Amino acid sequence: MAIERTFSIIKPDATKRNLTGAINKVFEDNGLRIVAQRRIKMSEAQAQKFYEVHAERPFYGELVEFMTSEPVVVQVLEGENAVAKHREVMGATNPAEAADGTVRKLYALSIGENSVHGSDSLENAKIEIAQFFSDDQIVG
Ligand code: CMP
Repeated sequence: MAIERTFSIIKPDATKRNLTGAINKVFEDNGLRIVAQRRIKMSEAQAQKFYEVHAERPFYGELVEFMTSEPVVVQVLEGENAVAKHREVMGATNPAEAADGTVRKLYALSIGENSVHGSDSLENAKIEIAQFFSDDQIVG
């Protein structure tokens, strides 16, 4: 297995409830190392661009509004098989379908307010990381 980097966001519903540390503990306990992290208020333009693949979906407007409603924590996580490992630890997009012990089972409120985002492929991880971090801001 290869050491990979993936992109992660702790979303507004979680930062608002002071869950940043609790979620980071789940990541770290599962072998994901936080090699870059920043708390930001996402602009509307940033959220629109980040989620542009969903622009035609009925929930797009709601998603952009939600992601800009409160601060988020953007992160780069590193570890063996990090993309798949992070997705496993996050759990299913819909918390009603998420496995026990996953972040979304533990903390998510709904399919929209689902506490975390993670890249779905290594290729997208690279694109998403580059939207928020320069190489010198990632310290492995
Ligand atoms: P995320 O991994 O950030 O990628 C796209 C997001 O769209 C997803 O998590 C959900 O938060 C959101 N999403 C997906 N389906 C729905 C839906 N039916 N209603 C509202 N938001 C959704």
